[in-house]
Amino acid sequence: MSLSYLPLFLKGEVVKGFGRGSKELGCPTANYSREVAQSLPQDIKPGVYYGWAQVNSHPVYKMVANIGWCPFYQNKELSVETHVMHDFEKDFYGSNLKICIIGYLRPEMNFSSVDSLIQTIKKDIQNADELLEVAEAIKLKTHDFFTDQ
Ligand SMILES: Cc1cc2nc3c(=O)[nH]c(=O)nc-3n(C[C@H](O)[C@H](O)[C@H](O)COP(=O)(O)O)c2cc1C
Repeated sequence: MSLSYLPLFLKGEVVKGFGRGSKELGCPTANYSREVAQSLPQDIKPGVYYGWAQVNSHPVYKMVANIGWCPFYQNKELSVETHVMHDFEKDFYGSNLKICIIGYLRPEMNFSSVDSLIQTIKKDIQNADELLEVAEAIKLKTHDFFTDQ
């Protein structure tokens, strides 16, 4: 699906979310502050996206990001949560996170169990992994956005 506001570049500090990401879902997510969420294009389509992510001056890794209200948890505000597809040794609260959102995977959904949410996120990660091997996507990995510190 082609959305006019993509690729979308976002940067900001990682703040504490509700902490469910790693504990309940086995999938750590980095949350942006409300200011970053409020700076999104007005017509942003809530859902799951894929692209590239960089924490401080670490290498650029693949990522999946959920932009929305998390119907499963009934959040009150729009949030941007990024799962960086790399095993980090520590949490990176307070770090600078840059993301380049390239494409849309699916709408946000509600689930009848945590387990089906987990299975769907696993599939999202697999899909992102493949879609980011395409030349057009790889080009954005070395974009100035990531090299300009
Ligand atoms: C790739 C990905 C897909 C997600 N898809 C959904 C979804 O379809 N529906 C939903 O309610 N939440 C979805 N979530 C959000 C999780 O519910 C959320 O990451 C979890 O609540 C952890 O939030 P916390 O770190 O603020 O505690 C998704 C998260 C990720 C990383």
